[in-house]
Amino acid sequence: MPIYGTRPEAIKMAPIVKALQSSEHFDCEVTVTGQHREMLDQVNELFGIEPGHDLNIIQPRQTLNGVLTRTVNGLDELFTAQKPDAVIVQGDTTTTTAGAMAAFYSGIPVIHAEAGLRSFDLFSPFPEEANRKMTSQITSLHLAPTSQSKANLLRESLPEDDIVVTGNTVIDALLEVAQKQVPFSDPQLEDAAATGQDVLLVTTHRRENQGAAMEGVGRALARLADRYPEKLVVLPAHRNPVVREAILPALAGHSNVIVTEPLPYGEFTRLMNLATVVLTDSGGVQEEAPSLGKPVLVMRENTERPEAVDAGTVRLIGTDEERVVQEVSNLFDSAESYRAMANAVNPYGDGHAAARTAAAIEKLFDLGPRLEDFDPQV
Ligand code: UD1
Ligand code: UDP
Repeated sequence: MPIYGTRPEAIKMAPIVKALQSSEHFDCEVTVTGQHREMLDQVNELFGIEPGHDLNIIQPRQTLNGVLTRTVNGLDELFTAQKPDAVIVQGDTTTTTAGAMAAFYSGIPVIHAEAGLRSFDLFSPFPEEANRKMTSQITSLHLAPTSQSKANLLRESLPEDDIVVTGNTVIDALLEVAQKQVPFSDPQLEDAAATGQDVLLVTTHRRENQGAAMEGVGRALARLADRYPEKLVVLPAHRNPVVREAILPALAGHSNVIVTEPLPYGEFTRLMNLATVVLTDSGGVQEEAPSLGKPVLVMRENTERPEAVDAGTVRLIGTDEERVVQEVSNLFDSAESYRAMANAVNPYGDGHAAARTAAAIEKLFDLGPRLEDFDPQV
């Protein structure tokens, strides 16, 4: 039983659902918590996934404890009725940890996809670092995306036999969707694609950036729009009202700033592909944009995804208004700085992570051999 609740989990779980559905060994019963609604349904629709169970827990301005308790309560009932042989959770959201806890307490083995990411700061990102660590402690099979994430788990004394390096299924999803070349629903984006206009693509939602830091990012974007009137700033806005209240006021009245609703994944990947620079605090975007050769400026102080930083395609810049203006300007103004970062790198996967995931689960049930760990160098 795959269990997920938010947009990024849905994107990364979709290839796993497909792989399990096509395996002769498994009966795959998808459960969504509905921690997200529109942003979750959008992804399930794109990948043609119809959840068997939907806890529909979302509330406006929900609290972490509310998400946790509604998920555990809903799953408790569902597990009693359905009795799954194992559950799969993905990533580091509160759905992830609540799903793992509810399964563990019900005596159901937990499989954790995207295991072993660590920022080494319990409070950043909050609550995701804690969510990952708690989930790892009660997981029977850890699917680590990279050798560094496996090493993090070994450092925490988790048994090597229970860890398989699969790559990250986000690259499977990206490769499947990016080749479809969907049209943009916003005509200004279609124009930008036709004319080759420079695009600064921005996403932000992290809890620790909400409030004053995000207001500063809004002011930085407004200054960049004024400084580069021939370029476009595009912000697909997260549905969280706290995010919108912080970032949108500074952007009003700027004709070269486009604020959209969350874009369907196909449109978003196309936009990443045509963007000049990506400015984000997202986890998933940090994994996808490097594989498209896009320089990524990450508005965070640390990252649990060091591989693309090491490769030179991602730079951590924090959220300081001056720094954001200066780092984006540097990439727009200096061809040399731009070239140094615009390298296509694929440390996170090769598009076959879901097949490895299914094979690793077969091994968990003694239905197949142990896999070789994924190595992006091979
Ligand atoms: C959640 C995850 C975060 C992940 C992010 C991906 C936790 C604690 N946080 O953060 O790890 O990076 O999703 O986007 O698990 N809302 C809607 N419709 C939607 C989605 C959200 O209206 O489709 C609004 C609701 O008012 C909701 C609020 O956004 O209460 C916050 O949603 P929530 O899932 O709690 O937090 P995110 O910031 O989305
Ligand atoms: N994404 C999308 N539409 C958008 C913005 C992002 O489909 O308008 C995708 C993006 O490609 C990535 C994922 O959503 O795969 C990232 O989600 P988010 O930033 O909300 O969460 P995080 O990855 O930080 O947990």
